[in-house]
Amino acid sequence: MKQFFFLIILYTTIFATDNSYEKGRILYIDKACSNCHGTNAEGSNIYPKLANRLKNLLTQKLQQFQEGKFDTQTQEIMFGFVKSLTKQDIDDLSTYLANYQKESEKKYKLDASLLGSVD
Ligand code: HEC
Repeated sequence: MKQFFFLIILYTTIFATDNSYEKGRILYIDKACSNCHGTNAEGSNIYPKLANRLKNLLTQKLQQFQEGKFDTQTQEIMFGFVKSLTKQDIDDLSTYLANYQKESEKKYKLDASLLGSVD
């Protein structure tokens, strides 16, 4: 019985995380974030890199922007883009960005143990 509950918790955790990542991925394109921060969230020029940054930091920044708190004038560019986001959207976006994995890497990532030993 204990194992059963453990499995349920495990599955829901994995499922919830995946779901949030996927929702964040869609939001990232839908809300035009990729236009400035890049398709791979790699950033460029004045646009900061967002991929694989700390989730808490991303969430905190987005919340601050939403409250109208900016450290620099360039950050004000963000104002219009965070306005329509819900708390859940911010969480999903941060989950996606913090755990970002390139599509190509996802598809072709090989499990090293399957390759066998070379020597
Ligand atoms: C029009 C261009 C533009 C769009 C679209 C845009 N951003 Fe930004 N973003 C910026 C700029 C500029 C900054 C501030 C750079 C600085 O601190 O000087 C920034 C900063 C950020 C930061 C803070 C990063 C840090 O290191 O301080 C986060 C997080 C962020 N953006 C997420 C998003 C998300 C999520 C979206 C989509 C909802 C988005 N951005 C859409 C231009 C944009």
